[in-house]
Amino acid sequence: MAHTSRVRVSSVVLVASLALHLFFPECFSSSVLIARASASESDVDLLEFPLNLEYLEAEFFLFGALGYGLDMIAPKLAGGGDPPIGAKFAKLDNLVRDVIIQFGLQEVGHLRAIKSTVKGFPRPLLNLSSSAFAEVMDAAFGRTLNPPFDPYANSINFLLASYVIPYVGLTGYVGTNPLLHNSSSRKLELLSGKTVISRNELLLSSPSLLFMLHNDNVHMLHLHEQLVAGLLAVESGQDAVIRALLYERKAQLVQPYGVTVGEFTDRISNLRNKLGKAGLKDEGLVVPRKDGAEGEVSGNILAGDKDSLAYSRTPKEILRIVYGTGDEHVPGGFYPKGARGRIATSYLKQSI
Ligand SMILES: *[C@@H]1O[C@H](CO)[C@@H](O)[C@H](O)[C@H]1NC(C)=O
Ligand SMILES: *[C@@H]1O[C@H](CO)[C@@H](O)[C@H](O)[C@H]1NC(C)=O
Repeated sequence: MAHTSRVRVSSVVLVASLALHLFFPECFSSSVLIARASASESDVDLLEFPLNLEYLEAEFFLFGALGYGLDMIAPKLAGGGDPPIGAKFAKLDNLVRDVIIQFGLQEVGHLRAIKSTVKGFPRPLLNLSSSAFAEVMDAAFGRTLNPPFDPYANSINFLLASYVIPYVGLTGYVGTNPLLHNSSSRKLELLSGKTVISRNELLLSSPSLLFMLHNDNVHMLHLHEQLVAGLLAVESGQDAVIRALLYERKAQLVQPYGVTVGEFTDRISNLRNKLGKAGLKDEGLVVPRKDGAEGEVSGNILAGDKDSLAYSRTPKEILRIVYGTGDEHVPGGFYPKGARGRIATSYLKQSI
């Protein structure tokens, strides 16, 4: 079955040679018994999907702040994926460069954390050229900005371009965590050489070992939740820093367009709402009062729903946005060949 080939074991929980001598003194003493708690396929898929966004952020931030990316800093994490197109050193002031270096390095940690939990995939082809960002901004304004928007030209432009990305990842993490609660799909596999021991056999021979393994499974679920919570927390911190830096400048005009920073964020957020096709899940720095916290304020330093809770997005919505096409089946934008992993590629196949 194709199914079995896809069962990826995210962690070998117990190589119980010592314990085995206790529990199976005779029958298993000479065989290597490995107990594996495997993450359900859907968990693996959900955990690896965000790699797509983490790669994008890592490369954009690292190149922007340092002029080089993962291939210099952590080539192993790139996994042999194509180098990004058009990413480059940005003209940033000292504060923004300082912050963006930190963000870029944080993404390296995120990539490592995800890839040490699930196998993941190599870096997808990323189009981080000025023109890819210019297209997003043109779409946001519904007209061609002249000259084309260049994210690498100055700090304000780079922050506006940064506003485009981490928030989308953040909403994805908000959407992921509840799905991981589906623990009924978790499997317990016991393999002993050629013998597969059933759960019942094990229960008869050793309730306590089964208990240990069960706890390991629960433990693993908690590790997945903890990973996503940890990623969510730092991504939302990044989003907050970017929003705060932009909020300070919300009335400033972005040159040479003569449009305020506030309006830029509003346009970008509206574009994401339009592409995501799931209603209002994104808000700029200044909103109609009714959409501000408690319907009382128009300043909107953080986006949130009527209870000021973060919006959540499904992978499908995220792909529609980052492809810039409004269609999860049609790649483009920052991902000319599409995103990677089972969730994203399943949509790509459907388009053929
Ligand atoms: C990158 O994006 C720009 C703007 O859409 C496009 O003109 C260019 O061809 C893209 N490059 C690749 C290799 O897809
Ligand atoms: C829970 O897991 C099962 C088995 O993998 C799957 O069929 C079901 O759709 C999942 N439910 C949710 C809410 O993800």
